[in-house]
Amino acid sequence: MSDQLRPRASLRTAVVWDVLKDALDRRAEATGRAALDVLDTGGGTGNFAVPVARLGHRVTVVDPSPNALFGLERRAAEAGVADQVHGVQGDVLGLFDVVERGGYDAVLCHGVLEYVEDPAEGIRNAVDALRPSGALSLLAAGLGGAVLARALAGHFTEARQALTDPAGRWGEGDPVPRRFTAEQLTGLVTTAGVEVGAVHGVRVFADLVPGVLVDTEPGALEALLKLEAAAAELPAFHSVATQLHVLGKKQG
Ligand SMILES: C[S@@+](CC[C@H](N)C(=O)[O-])C[C@H]1O[C@@H](n2cnc3c(N)ncnc32)[C@H](O)[C@@H]1O
Repeated sequence: MSDQLRPRASLRTAVVWDVLKDALDRRAEATGRAALDVLDTGGGTGNFAVPVARLGHRVTVVDPSPNALFGLERRAAEAGVADQVHGVQGDVLGLFDVVERGGYDAVLCHGVLEYVEDPAEGIRNAVDALRPSGALSLLAAGLGGAVLARALAGHFTEARQALTDPAGRWGEGDPVPRRFTAEQLTGLVTTAGVEVGAVHGVRVFADLVPGVLVDTEPGALEALLKLEAAAAELPAFHSVATQLHVLGKKQG
């Protein structure tokens, strides 16, 4: 089902999708090729890979989970893009065991860096998979958003723990192994040879407002989407976003 048919899901993807689509359009124009080669590392069941394929691009998804790859295959078939989406079992830390180095116009690394043992190596590999001037789209969990969410839920000790923990975790029960500040993410990509084009805060408000308000108040979802879009680019809101998106261009 597309995000248009699941309006609440658009809160998770809207800002990133708009930035990504624009970057792919620009890359297509710059290369003179309408169909780009796109790699989605940790692409899961294709939240982004399938819509990217629907734009006409060829997408390779590398993911360690056979279940996710099965879901991806089914979803791509349902969307009519099965022949443009290629799922491969693999790990971003062993990326070149399964895909070509320097073979892609754009690489997505969305919601993956939190889970890999060595984020610097993960990003290095994602960048090494790019052709010169290729686009990197990095999305990862933000530290400040987790601190704010724990505090607003009344879990003040956990909020402080996340704030002081080097990995940004709020405790033993935290399902996310690692969170990042915008500075950490831009530092990682810059070190890997990427020029940062834009940083966006994702889900600045969406996870903090009661779901019932968004679902029942007429026009609330649309208004919230517009608010998220307006706040996303402002650095002041990066430090409280649930996720951070970094768009960059490989140098050289
Ligand atoms: C939170 S999901 C994100 C899925 C998708 N990128 C999205 O944005 O909807 C994280 C995905 O990363 C995959 N993953 C976990 N560790 C990974 C690794 N070391 N290398 C590549 N993918 C990994 C998981 O199997 C899962 O599909």
